[in-house]
Amino acid sequence: MSFVRFTDVCRYYTMGNNVIKAANGVSFAIEKGEFCVIVGPSGAGKTTVLNMLGGMDSVTSGEIVVDGVKVSDFKEKKLTEYRRYDVGFVFQFYNLIQNLTAIENVEIASEICKDPLDAAKTLEEVGLADRMKNFPAQLSGGE
Ligand SMILES: Nc1ncnc2c1ncn2[C@@H]1O[C@H](COP(=O)(O)OP(=O)(O)O)[C@@H](O)[C@H]1O
Ligand SMILES: [Mg+2]
Repeated sequence: MSFVRFTDVCRYYTMGNNVIKAANGVSFAIEKGEFCVIVGPSGAGKTTVLNMLGGMDSVTSGEIVVDGVKVSDFKEKKLTEYRRYDVGFVFQFYNLIQNLTAIENVEIASEICKDPLDAAKTLEEVGLADRMKNFPAQLSGGE
């Protein structure tokens, strides 16, 4: 059984009388430990697929299974737990809290997860030891 499986997943958005088919019958499988890249033209539905996989959007139809659990059946509370404990997600526009420093941003996340790593040590490990007290606006995109 695959670690991640999308089966015939559709996500339709209704805008007035128009229906936008952001994802229309998406099926794929990813094995545990596999490094996977999703490629496609602008508007193809990549962000829509990642938002559904990350528990931030839900399917119109079809099925998403992650680690043997049918995530596509989850309602708000279960989705919150899934986002909190099961998924790591780096946003295209970071979603850092602008008036908190780098270390404070990491500490915020460690407040809500089980068995968190040490925030300072983790920043050191990714080469940001000298940047901990900087605010997001003072960091480069990559940092
Ligand atoms: N919340 C939304 N409401 C209406 N249309 C949306 C919404 N999100 C995405 N779309 C539309 O769905 C399609 C796929 O968008 P998206 O997943 O962002 O594409 P990609 O990330 O591949 O560029 C686009 O036509 C986009 O305009
Ligand atoms: Mg996108």
